[in-house]
Amino acid sequence: MNEKQRLESGQVTPADKKSEKDYSKYFQTVYMPPSLKDAKKRGKEEVAYHNDFSIEERFRGMGQGRKFYIRTYGCQMNEHDTEVMAGIFLSLGYEPTDSVQDAHVVLLNTCAIRENAENKVFGELGHLKALKRERPDLLIGVCGCMSQEESVVNKILQKHQHVDMIFGTHNIHRLPHILNEAYMAKEMVIEVWSKEGDVIENLPRARKGSIKAWVNIMYGCDKFCTYCIVPYTRGKERSRRPEEIIQEVRHLAAQGYKEITLLGQNVNAYGKDFEDMEYGLGDLMDEIRKIDVLRIRFTTSHPRDFDDRLIEVLAKGGNLVDHIHLPVQSGSSDILKIMARKYTREYYLELVRKIKEAIPTASLTTDIIVGFPNETDEQFEETLSLYREVEFDSAYTFIYSPREGTPAAKMKDNVPMEVKKERLQRLNALVNEISAKKMQEYEGRVVEVLVEGESKNNPNVLAGYTEKNKLVNFVAPESVIGQVVKVKITKAKTWSLDGEMVEEAAEVK
Ligand code: 5AD
Ligand code: SF4
Repeated sequence: MNEKQRLESGQVTPADKKSEKDYSKYFQTVYMPPSLKDAKKRGKEEVAYHNDFSIEERFRGMGQGRKFYIRTYGCQMNEHDTEVMAGIFLSLGYEPTDSVQDAHVVLLNTCAIRENAENKVFGELGHLKALKRERPDLLIGVCGCMSQEESVVNKILQKHQHVDMIFGTHNIHRLPHILNEAYMAKEMVIEVWSKEGDVIENLPRARKGSIKAWVNIMYGCDKFCTYCIVPYTRGKERSRRPEEIIQEVRHLAAQGYKEITLLGQNVNAYGKDFEDMEYGLGDLMDEIRKIDVLRIRFTTSHPRDFDDRLIEVLAKGGNLVDHIHLPVQSGSSDILKIMARKYTREYYLELVRKIKEAIPTASLTTDIIVGFPNETDEQFEETLSLYREVEFDSAYTFIYSPREGTPAAKMKDNVPMEVKKERLQRLNALVNEISAKKMQEYEGRVVEVLVEGESKNNPNVLAGYTEKNKLVNFVAPESVIGQVVKVKITKAKTWSLDGEMVEEAAEVK
Protein backbone atom coordinates (compact mmCIF):
# COMPACT_ATOMS: atom_id res chain seq x y z
CA MET A 1 0.00 0.00 0.00
CA ASN A 2 1.49 3.37 -0.91
CA GLU A 3 1.36 6.57 1.15
CA LYS A 4 -1.69 7.79 -0.66
CA GLN A 5 -3.72 4.60 -0.36
CA ARG A 6 -2.80 4.35 3.31
CA LEU A 7 -3.98 7.87 3.86
CA GLU A 8 -7.24 7.28 2.05
CA SER A 9 -7.89 4.20 4.14
CA GLY A 10 -7.09 6.22 7.26
CA GLN A 11 -4.18 3.96 8.20
CA VAL A 12 -1.49 6.41 9.20
CA THR A 13 0.45 4.30 11.67
CA PRO A 14 2.34 5.51 14.74
CA ALA A 15 5.52 4.26 13.05
CA ASP A 16 4.95 6.59 10.07
CA LYS A 17 4.41 9.41 12.43
CA LYS A 18 7.51 8.81 14.52
CA SER A 19 9.73 8.84 11.46
CA GLU A 20 9.02 12.53 10.93
CA LYS A 21 10.44 14.23 13.95
CA ASP A 22 9.85 17.81 12.84
CA TYR A 23 6.15 17.31 12.96
CA SER A 24 5.97 14.73 15.72
CA LYS A 25 4.17 16.86 18.25
CA TYR A 26 1.45 17.80 15.80
CA PHE A 27 0.28 14.40 14.62
CA GLN A 28 -3.44 14.10 14.32
CA THR A 29 -6.16 12.56 12.21
CA VAL A 30 -4.75 13.40 8.80
CA TYR A 31 -1.04 13.84 8.52
CA MET A 32 0.64 14.05 5.14
CA PRO A 33 3.29 16.77 4.90
CA PRO A 34 4.98 17.75 1.64
CA SER A 35 8.45 16.75 0.48
CA LEU A 36 10.21 18.73 -2.26
CA LYS A 37 12.59 15.80 -2.65
CA ASP A 38 9.73 13.44 -3.51
CA ALA A 39 8.12 16.07 -5.71
CA LYS A 40 11.28 16.18 -7.81
CA LYS A 41 11.06 12.51 -8.81
CA ARG A 42 9.50 11.77 -12.16
CA GLY A 43 8.25 8.18 -12.27
CA LYS A 44 7.52 6.23 -15.43
CA GLU A 45 4.09 5.20 -14.20
CA GLU A 46 1.21 6.01 -16.54
CA VAL A 47 -1.17 8.85 -15.90
CA ALA A 48 -4.38 7.54 -14.35
CA TYR A 49 -7.58 9.26 -15.46
CA HIS A 50 -10.46 9.41 -12.98
CA ASN A 51 -13.98 10.19 -13.99
CA ASP A 52 -15.67 9.18 -10.80
CA PHE A 53 -15.54 12.30 -8.63
CA SER A 54 -18.72 12.63 -6.60
CA ILE A 55 -19.72 14.22 -3.33
CA GLU A 56 -20.31 11.47 -0.78
CA GLU A 57 -23.79 11.41 0.69
CA ARG A 58 -22.45 11.91 4.22
CA PHE A 59 -20.90 15.26 3.25
CA ARG A 60 -23.87 16.72 1.40
CA GLY A 61 -25.30 18.87 4.18
CA MET A 62 -21.90 19.99 5.45
CA GLY A 63 -22.23 23.55 4.17
CA GLN A 64 -25.80 24.16 5.33
CA GLY A 65 -25.95 27.65 6.84
CA ARG A 66 -22.24 28.20 6.23
CA LYS A 67 -20.37 30.57 3.89
CA PHE A 68 -16.98 30.24 2.20
CA TYR A 69 -14.43 32.79 1.06
CA ILE A 70 -11.40 32.02 -1.12
CA ARG A 71 -8.57 34.51 -1.65
CA THR A 72 -6.50 33.70 -4.73
CA TYR A 73 -2.86 34.66 -5.27
CA GLY A 74 -0.74 34.13 -8.38
CA CYS A 75 -1.41 32.77 -11.84
CA GLN A 76 -4.48 31.81 -13.90
CA MET A 77 -3.99 28.18 -12.91
CA ASN A 78 -4.66 29.20 -9.32
CA GLU A 79 -7.66 31.31 -10.38
CA HIS A 80 -9.06 28.29 -12.11
CA ASP A 81 -8.33 25.97 -9.15
CA THR A 82 -10.31 28.44 -7.06
CA GLU A 83 -13.25 27.99 -9.46
CA VAL A 84 -13.03 24.23 -8.93
CA MET A 85 -12.90 24.59 -5.14
CA ALA A 86 -15.82 27.02 -5.25
CA GLY A 87 -17.71 24.40 -7.29
CA ILE A 88 -17.02 21.80 -4.59
CA PHE A 89 -18.11 24.18 -1.80
CA LEU A 90 -21.40 24.85 -3.62
CA SER A 91 -21.96 21.10 -4.07
CA LEU A 92 -21.52 20.73 -0.31
CA GLY A 93 -24.23 23.32 0.30
CA TYR A 94 -22.01 26.28 1.29
CA GLU A 95 -22.83 29.79 0.09
CA PRO A 96 -20.18 32.13 -1.31
CA THR A 97 -19.35 35.43 0.39
CA ASP A 98 -16.99 38.20 -0.61
CA SER A 99 -16.30 39.23 2.95
CA VAL A 100 -13.88 37.44 5.26
CA GLN A 101 -15.93 38.74 8.21
CA ASP A 102 -19.01 36.77 7.10
CA ALA A 103 -17.18 33.58 6.18
CA HIS A 104 -17.26 30.31 8.09
CA VAL A 105 -14.38 28.93 6.01
CA VAL A 106 -11.54 31.07 4.64
CA LEU A 107 -9.10 29.54 2.14
CA LEU A 108 -5.89 31.17 0.95
CA ASN A 109 -5.01 29.72 -2.46
CA THR A 110 -1.33 30.59 -2.49
CA CYS A 111 1.51 31.23 -4.95
CA ALA A 112 5.15 30.22 -4.36
CA ILE A 113 6.79 31.70 -7.45
CA ARG A 114 8.65 34.52 -5.68
CA GLU A 115 9.38 35.44 -2.10
CA ASN A 116 7.14 38.51 -2.10
CA ALA A 117 4.15 36.35 -3.15
CA GLU A 118 4.79 34.21 -0.07
CA ASN A 119 5.24 37.22 2.21
CA LYS A 120 1.79 38.49 1.25
CA VAL A 121 0.25 35.21 2.37
CA PHE A 122 2.09 35.21 5.70
CA GLY A 123 0.91 38.81 6.19
CA GLU A 124 -2.69 37.75 5.55
CA LEU A 125 -2.34 34.83 7.96
CA GLY A 126 -1.23 37.34 10.58
CA HIS A 127 -4.41 39.40 10.02
CA LEU A 128 -6.59 36.31 10.21
CA LYS A 129 -5.25 35.47 13.68
CA ALA A 130 -7.37 38.17 15.32
CA LEU A 131 -10.49 36.99 13.49
CA LYS A 132 -9.91 33.42 14.62
CA ARG A 133 -9.56 34.64 18.21
CA GLU A 134 -12.94 36.40 17.93
CA ARG A 135 -14.59 33.43 16.20
CA PRO A 136 -12.87 30.16 17.15
CA ASP A 137 -15.30 28.20 14.98
CA LEU A 138 -13.93 29.87 11.81
CA LEU A 139 -11.98 27.38 9.66
CA ILE A 140 -8.81 28.75 8.05
CA GLY A 141 -7.11 26.80 5.26
CA VAL A 142 -3.94 27.22 3.21
CA CYS A 143 -3.79 25.55 -0.19
CA GLY A 144 -2.07 26.11 -3.55
CA CYS A 145 1.64 26.07 -4.34
CA MET A 146 3.00 27.23 -0.97
CA SER A 147 1.46 24.27 0.80
CA GLN A 148 3.65 21.96 -1.31
CA GLU A 149 6.79 23.35 0.42
CA GLU A 150 8.08 21.79 3.64
CA SER A 151 9.56 25.09 4.82
CA VAL A 152 6.17 26.78 4.54
CA VAL A 153 4.33 23.99 6.34
CA ASN A 154 6.97 24.08 9.11
CA LYS A 155 6.61 27.85 9.45
CA ILE A 156 2.81 27.60 9.65
CA LEU A 157 3.12 24.88 12.28
CA GLN A 158 5.48 27.02 14.32
CA LYS A 159 4.00 30.49 13.90
CA HIS A 160 0.44 30.17 12.68
CA GLN A 161 -1.23 27.57 14.85
CA HIS A 162 -4.59 29.24 14.11
CA VAL A 163 -4.55 27.57 10.67
CA ASP A 164 -6.90 24.57 10.65
CA MET A 165 -5.95 22.87 7.41
CA ILE A 166 -3.19 22.77 4.82
CA PHE A 167 -3.75 20.89 1.58
CA GLY A 168 -1.78 20.65 -1.64
CA THR A 169 -2.35 21.27 -5.33
CA HIS A 170 -2.94 17.53 -5.92
CA ASN A 171 -5.49 17.30 -3.09
CA ILE A 172 -8.15 19.73 -4.28
CA HIS A 173 -10.63 16.94 -5.06
CA ARG A 174 -10.21 15.79 -1.44
CA LEU A 175 -11.65 19.08 -0.12
CA PRO A 176 -14.84 17.49 1.31
CA HIS A 177 -12.76 14.99 3.32
CA ILE A 178 -10.30 17.65 4.45
CA LEU A 179 -13.10 19.95 5.64
CA ASN A 180 -14.73 17.05 7.44
CA GLU A 181 -11.45 16.22 9.20
CA ALA A 182 -10.88 19.88 10.07
CA TYR A 183 -14.31 20.12 11.74
CA MET A 184 -13.59 17.04 13.82
CA ALA A 185 -9.86 17.30 14.57
CA LYS A 186 -8.39 19.42 17.35
CA GLU A 187 -5.07 19.77 15.57
CA MET A 188 -4.08 21.12 12.19
CA VAL A 189 -5.06 18.86 9.28
CA ILE A 190 -2.26 18.51 6.73
CA GLU A 191 -2.81 16.65 3.48
CA VAL A 192 -0.20 17.36 0.82
CA TRP A 193 0.65 14.69 -1.73
CA SER A 194 4.08 15.30 -3.15
CA LYS A 195 3.79 12.85 -6.01
CA GLU A 196 0.69 12.63 -8.06
CA GLY A 197 0.31 11.43 -11.59
CA ASP A 198 -3.43 11.55 -11.93
CA VAL A 199 -5.96 13.60 -13.86
CA ILE A 200 -9.37 14.00 -12.22
CA GLU A 201 -11.97 14.81 -14.84
CA ASN A 202 -15.44 15.57 -13.62
CA LEU A 203 -14.80 18.10 -10.86
CA PRO A 204 -17.47 20.78 -10.47
CA ARG A 205 -16.55 24.36 -11.41
CA ALA A 206 -18.15 27.63 -10.36
CA ARG A 207 -16.78 29.91 -13.07
CA LYS A 208 -16.23 33.53 -12.15
CA GLY A 209 -17.60 35.20 -15.27
CA SER A 210 -19.91 34.43 -18.15
CA ILE A 211 -17.83 35.90 -21.00
CA LYS A 212 -14.35 34.42 -20.58
CA ALA A 213 -13.48 30.95 -19.29
CA TRP A 214 -10.35 28.98 -18.49
CA VAL A 215 -9.89 25.39 -19.56
CA ASN A 216 -7.00 23.30 -18.25
CA ILE A 217 -5.34 21.28 -20.94
CA MET A 218 -2.47 19.94 -18.88
CA TYR A 219 -1.09 19.96 -15.38
CA GLY A 220 2.46 20.13 -14.03
CA CYS A 221 5.82 20.89 -15.59
CA ASP A 222 8.87 18.74 -16.33
CA LYS A 223 11.14 21.52 -17.55
CA PHE A 224 12.90 22.19 -14.23
CA CYS A 225 14.25 25.62 -15.13
CA THR A 226 16.82 26.07 -12.37
CA TYR A 227 15.12 29.07 -10.73
CA CYS A 228 11.58 27.72 -10.75
CA ILE A 229 9.61 26.04 -7.97
CA VAL A 230 6.64 25.08 -10.18
CA PRO A 231 7.81 21.57 -11.24
CA TYR A 232 7.98 20.76 -7.51
CA THR A 233 4.66 22.31 -6.51
CA ARG A 234 2.61 21.20 -9.50
CA GLY A 235 4.07 17.77 -10.21
CA LYS A 236 4.85 16.02 -13.44
CA GLU A 237 3.36 16.88 -16.82
CA ARG A 238 -0.02 15.25 -17.34
CA SER A 239 -2.20 16.09 -20.33
CA ARG A 240 -5.96 15.85 -20.35
CA ARG A 241 -7.33 13.73 -23.18
CA PRO A 242 -8.30 15.84 -26.24
CA GLU A 243 -11.88 14.57 -26.27
CA GLU A 244 -12.42 15.79 -22.70
CA ILE A 245 -11.01 19.24 -23.55
CA ILE A 246 -13.00 19.55 -26.78
CA GLN A 247 -16.17 18.54 -25.00
CA GLU A 248 -15.57 21.15 -22.29
CA VAL A 249 -14.90 23.91 -24.84
CA ARG A 250 -18.02 22.93 -26.83
CA HIS A 251 -20.07 23.03 -23.69
CA LEU A 252 -18.74 26.49 -22.79
CA ALA A 253 -19.44 27.75 -26.31
CA ALA A 254 -23.01 26.45 -26.03
CA GLN A 255 -23.35 28.28 -22.71
CA GLY A 256 -22.45 31.53 -24.48
CA TYR A 257 -18.82 32.02 -23.41
CA LYS A 258 -17.00 34.18 -25.97
CA GLU A 259 -13.38 33.64 -25.07
CA ILE A 260 -11.59 30.50 -23.93
CA THR A 261 -8.04 30.42 -22.57
CA LEU A 262 -6.38 27.02 -22.61
CA LEU A 263 -4.20 26.68 -19.54
CA GLY A 264 -1.06 24.81 -18.62
CA GLN A 265 2.30 25.57 -17.03
CA ASN A 266 3.99 24.62 -20.28
CA VAL A 267 1.23 24.16 -22.86
CA ASN A 268 3.66 23.41 -25.67
CA ALA A 269 4.44 20.08 -24.00
CA TYR A 270 0.77 19.13 -24.35
CA GLY A 271 0.39 15.49 -25.42
CA LYS A 272 4.04 14.51 -24.92
CA ASP A 273 2.92 12.15 -22.16
CA PHE A 274 0.40 10.26 -24.33
CA GLU A 275 1.65 6.74 -24.86
CA ASP A 276 -0.98 5.68 -27.39
CA MET A 277 -0.75 8.53 -29.92
CA GLU A 278 1.30 11.34 -31.39
CA TYR A 279 -0.79 14.37 -30.63
CA GLY A 280 0.37 17.86 -29.70
CA LEU A 281 -0.89 21.37 -29.02
CA GLY A 282 -1.06 22.13 -32.76
CA ASP A 283 -3.39 19.17 -33.29
CA LEU A 284 -5.56 20.22 -30.37
CA MET A 285 -5.79 23.84 -31.57
CA ASP A 286 -6.69 22.60 -35.04
CA GLU A 287 -9.73 20.84 -33.53
CA ILE A 288 -10.70 23.62 -31.17
CA ARG A 289 -10.62 26.34 -33.82
CA LYS A 290 -13.59 24.61 -35.46
CA ILE A 291 -15.74 25.23 -32.38
CA ASP A 292 -18.06 28.20 -32.61
CA VAL A 293 -16.47 30.44 -30.01
CA LEU A 294 -15.17 33.95 -30.70
CA ARG A 295 -11.61 33.77 -29.34
CA ILE A 296 -9.23 31.04 -28.30
CA ARG A 297 -6.04 31.83 -26.37
CA PHE A 298 -3.47 29.66 -24.65
CA THR A 299 -0.90 30.24 -21.93
CA THR A 300 1.92 29.71 -21.02
CA SER A 301 4.27 28.77 -23.81
CA HIS A 302 7.80 27.46 -23.59
CA PRO A 303 9.89 28.40 -26.66
CA ARG A 304 11.68 25.04 -26.71
CA ASP A 305 8.53 23.03 -27.46
CA PHE A 306 6.86 25.63 -29.75
CA ASP A 307 6.82 23.58 -32.95
CA ASP A 308 6.16 24.26 -36.65
CA ARG A 309 2.88 22.38 -36.56
CA LEU A 310 1.54 24.84 -33.98
CA ILE A 311 2.72 27.83 -36.01
CA GLU A 312 1.04 26.38 -39.10
CA VAL A 313 -2.26 25.95 -37.23
CA LEU A 314 -2.12 29.40 -35.59
CA ALA A 315 -1.58 30.91 -39.04
CA LYS A 316 -5.06 29.66 -39.99
CA GLY A 317 -6.34 32.52 -37.82
CA GLY A 318 -10.11 32.63 -37.39
CA ASN A 319 -10.86 32.37 -33.69
CA LEU A 320 -7.21 31.61 -32.82
CA VAL A 321 -5.94 34.97 -31.60
CA ASP A 322 -2.77 36.52 -32.99
CA HIS A 323 -1.34 37.29 -29.57
CA ILE A 324 1.29 34.92 -28.20
CA HIS A 325 2.82 35.07 -24.73
CA LEU A 326 6.30 33.63 -25.15
CA PRO A 327 8.48 33.93 -22.03
CA VAL A 328 12.13 34.47 -22.96
CA GLN A 329 13.53 35.05 -19.42
CA SER A 330 16.90 36.36 -20.67
CA GLY A 331 18.55 37.54 -23.89
CA SER A 332 21.89 35.97 -23.00
CA SER A 333 22.62 32.43 -24.19
CA ASP A 334 24.97 31.93 -21.23
CA ILE A 335 22.33 32.88 -18.70
CA LEU A 336 19.71 30.81 -20.55
CA LYS A 337 22.06 27.87 -20.24
CA ILE A 338 22.42 28.22 -16.46
CA MET A 339 18.67 28.71 -16.24
CA ALA A 340 18.36 25.34 -18.07
CA ARG A 341 15.94 26.89 -20.55
CA LYS A 342 17.27 24.56 -23.27
CA TYR A 343 17.40 27.20 -26.02
CA THR A 344 19.75 30.01 -27.03
CA ARG A 345 19.19 33.66 -27.90
CA GLU A 346 19.54 32.71 -31.59
CA TYR A 347 16.98 29.91 -31.31
CA TYR A 348 14.48 32.28 -29.71
CA LEU A 349 15.00 34.98 -32.34
CA GLU A 350 14.60 32.40 -35.09
CA LEU A 351 11.36 31.18 -33.52
CA VAL A 352 10.08 34.77 -33.40
CA ARG A 353 11.05 35.21 -37.05
CA LYS A 354 9.12 32.08 -38.03
CA ILE A 355 6.05 33.18 -36.05
CA LYS A 356 6.08 36.66 -37.59
CA GLU A 357 6.58 35.25 -41.05
CA ALA A 358 3.60 32.89 -40.71
CA ILE A 359 1.43 35.36 -38.77
CA PRO A 360 2.46 38.88 -39.83
CA THR A 361 -0.02 40.54 -37.46
CA ALA A 362 1.18 38.55 -34.43
CA SER A 363 1.88 40.47 -31.26
CA LEU A 364 4.23 38.99 -28.71
CA THR A 365 4.53 39.47 -24.97
CA THR A 366 7.06 37.91 -22.63
CA ASP A 367 8.39 37.26 -19.12
CA ILE A 368 11.90 38.35 -18.12
CA ILE A 369 13.99 37.72 -15.02
CA VAL A 370 16.81 40.16 -14.22
CA GLY A 371 19.58 39.67 -11.70
CA PHE A 372 19.92 35.91 -12.10
CA PRO A 373 22.96 34.74 -10.06
CA ASN A 374 26.16 36.26 -11.48
CA GLU A 375 24.44 37.97 -14.42
CA THR A 376 26.96 40.46 -15.83
CA ASP A 377 26.22 43.93 -17.21
CA GLU A 378 26.96 42.62 -20.72
CA GLN A 379 24.55 39.72 -20.28
CA PHE A 380 21.86 42.12 -19.06
CA GLU A 381 22.54 44.37 -22.08
CA GLU A 382 21.84 41.33 -24.27
CA THR A 383 18.38 41.11 -22.70
CA LEU A 384 17.77 44.77 -23.56
CA SER A 385 18.96 44.29 -27.12
CA LEU A 386 16.81 41.19 -27.63
CA TYR A 387 13.82 43.12 -26.29
CA ARG A 388 14.44 45.92 -28.78
CA GLU A 389 14.91 43.48 -31.62
CA VAL A 390 11.68 41.56 -30.99
CA GLU A 391 9.70 44.68 -30.05
CA PHE A 392 7.43 42.91 -27.60
CA ASP A 393 4.07 44.56 -26.97
CA SER A 394 4.66 44.24 -23.23
CA ALA A 395 6.37 42.13 -20.62
CA TYR A 396 6.15 40.90 -17.06
CA THR A 397 9.53 41.66 -15.51
CA PHE A 398 10.93 40.26 -12.28
CA ILE A 399 14.00 40.40 -10.08
CA TYR A 400 15.26 36.86 -9.56
CA SER A 401 14.01 35.45 -6.27
CA PRO A 402 15.80 32.39 -4.85
CA ARG A 403 13.39 29.52 -4.13
CA GLU A 404 14.51 26.98 -1.56
CA GLY A 405 14.99 23.52 -3.06
CA THR A 406 15.74 24.75 -6.61
CA PRO A 407 19.27 24.43 -8.11
CA ALA A 408 19.65 28.20 -8.61
CA ALA A 409 19.08 28.84 -4.91
CA LYS A 410 22.36 27.01 -4.23
CA MET A 411 24.33 29.16 -6.71
CA LYS A 412 26.65 31.81 -5.29
CA ASP A 413 25.48 35.22 -6.42
CA ASN A 414 27.79 38.21 -6.81
CA VAL A 415 25.15 40.66 -8.06
CA PRO A 416 24.18 43.16 -5.33
CA MET A 417 20.45 43.84 -4.87
CA GLU A 418 21.02 47.50 -5.77
CA VAL A 419 22.31 46.44 -9.19
CA LYS A 420 19.38 44.07 -9.72
CA LYS A 421 16.93 46.87 -8.89
CA GLU A 422 18.66 49.24 -11.26
CA ARG A 423 18.52 46.64 -14.05
CA LEU A 424 14.82 46.13 -13.45
CA GLN A 425 14.25 49.89 -13.71
CA ARG A 426 16.20 50.10 -16.95
CA LEU A 427 14.32 47.17 -18.42
CA ASN A 428 10.97 48.57 -17.33
CA ALA A 429 11.80 51.91 -18.94
CA LEU A 430 12.39 50.09 -22.23
CA VAL A 431 9.22 48.00 -21.83
CA ASN A 432 7.21 51.19 -21.27
CA GLU A 433 8.85 53.01 -24.16
CA ILE A 434 8.07 50.26 -26.68
CA SER A 435 4.61 49.61 -25.28
CA ALA A 436 3.73 53.33 -25.53
CA LYS A 437 5.04 53.42 -29.10
CA LYS A 438 2.96 50.39 -30.08
CA MET A 439 -0.13 51.82 -28.41
CA GLN A 440 0.37 55.09 -30.25
CA GLU A 441 -0.07 53.24 -33.54
CA TYR A 442 -3.68 52.54 -32.55
CA GLU A 443 -4.75 56.21 -32.45
CA GLY A 444 -7.38 56.81 -35.11
CA ARG A 445 -7.82 53.10 -35.82
CA VAL A 446 -11.00 51.07 -35.32
CA VAL A 447 -10.62 47.90 -33.25
CA GLU A 448 -12.96 45.08 -32.24
CA VAL A 449 -13.49 44.93 -28.50
CA LEU A 450 -15.04 42.12 -26.49
CA VAL A 451 -16.88 44.13 -23.84
CA GLU A 452 -16.42 42.75 -20.34
CA GLY A 453 -18.20 45.28 -18.14
CA GLU A 454 -17.65 48.54 -16.30
CA SER A 455 -14.12 49.88 -16.15
CA LYS A 456 -12.47 49.13 -12.79
CA ASN A 457 -11.53 52.78 -12.32
CA ASN A 458 -14.60 54.50 -13.72
CA PRO A 459 -18.12 53.02 -13.53
CA ASN A 460 -19.36 55.40 -16.25
CA VAL A 461 -17.10 53.81 -18.81
CA LEU A 462 -17.10 50.28 -20.23
CA ALA A 463 -13.98 48.19 -20.68
CA GLY A 464 -12.97 45.27 -22.85
CA TYR A 465 -10.07 43.70 -24.68
CA THR A 466 -8.99 43.46 -28.30
CA GLU A 467 -7.83 40.21 -29.84
CA LYS A 468 -4.27 41.27 -29.01
CA ASN A 469 -5.33 41.70 -25.39
CA LYS A 470 -5.21 45.50 -25.34
CA LEU A 471 -7.45 47.07 -22.73
CA VAL A 472 -9.90 49.56 -24.27
CA ASN A 473 -12.09 52.00 -22.28
CA PHE A 474 -15.04 53.69 -23.97
CA VAL A 475 -18.51 55.10 -23.35
CA ALA A 476 -21.39 52.84 -24.41
CA PRO A 477 -24.68 51.49 -23.05
CA GLU A 478 -24.46 48.50 -20.69
CA SER A 479 -26.46 46.46 -23.19
CA VAL A 480 -23.28 45.80 -25.18
CA ILE A 481 -21.60 43.93 -22.30
CA GLY A 482 -20.71 40.46 -23.54
CA GLN A 483 -20.70 41.53 -27.18
CA VAL A 484 -18.03 42.51 -29.65
CA VAL A 485 -18.23 46.15 -30.72
CA LYS A 486 -16.18 48.35 -32.98
CA VAL A 487 -14.37 51.15 -31.17
CA LYS A 488 -12.45 54.04 -32.71
CA ILE A 489 -9.33 54.77 -30.65
CA THR A 490 -9.08 58.41 -29.69
CA LYS A 491 -6.22 58.32 -27.18
CA ALA A 492 -3.39 55.89 -26.53
CA LYS A 493 -1.91 55.46 -23.05
CA THR A 494 1.01 53.21 -22.08
CA TRP A 495 -1.17 50.33 -20.92
CA SER A 496 -4.64 51.07 -22.29
CA LEU A 497 -6.56 52.78 -25.06
CA ASP A 498 -9.49 55.20 -24.88
CA GLY A 499 -12.06 55.25 -27.66
CA GLU A 500 -15.57 55.82 -28.94
CA MET A 501 -17.92 53.08 -29.98
CA VAL A 502 -18.62 53.42 -33.69
CA GLU A 503 -20.72 50.38 -34.31
CA GLU A 504 -22.55 47.82 -32.25
CA ALA A 505 -21.76 44.37 -33.57
CA ALA A 506 -24.42 41.89 -34.46
CA GLU A 507 -24.86 39.35 -31.68
CA VAL A 508 -21.81 37.11 -31.74
CA LYS A 509 -22.41 33.50 -30.96
N1 5AD B 1 12.31 34.51 -9.49
C1 5AD B 1 11.81 35.48 -10.29
N2 5AD B 1 10.92 35.24 -11.26
C2 5AD B 1 10.52 33.96 -11.44
N3 5AD B 1 9.67 33.41 -12.32
C3 5AD B 1 9.60 32.09 -12.09
N4 5AD B 1 10.41 31.75 -11.07
C4 5AD B 1 11.01 32.91 -10.65
C5 5AD B 1 11.94 33.21 -9.64
N5 5AD B 1 12.47 32.27 -8.85
C6 5AD B 1 8.99 34.18 -13.36
C7 5AD B 1 9.33 33.67 -14.75
C8 5AD B 1 8.06 32.98 -15.16
C9 5AD B 1 7.01 33.80 -14.45
C10 5AD B 1 5.69 33.14 -14.29
O1 5AD B 1 7.59 34.05 -13.19
O2 5AD B 1 9.57 34.79 -15.58
O3 5AD B 1 7.87 32.96 -16.56
FE1 SF4 C 1 8.84 27.08 -14.31
FE2 SF4 C 1 10.30 26.68 -16.51
FE3 SF4 C 1 8.18 25.05 -15.97
FE4 SF4 C 1 7.76 27.60 -16.70
S1 SF4 C 1 8.71 26.00 -17.97
S2 SF4 C 1 6.76 26.50 -14.98
S3 SF4 C 1 9.51 28.68 -15.77
S4 SF4 C 1 10.08 25.24 -14.78
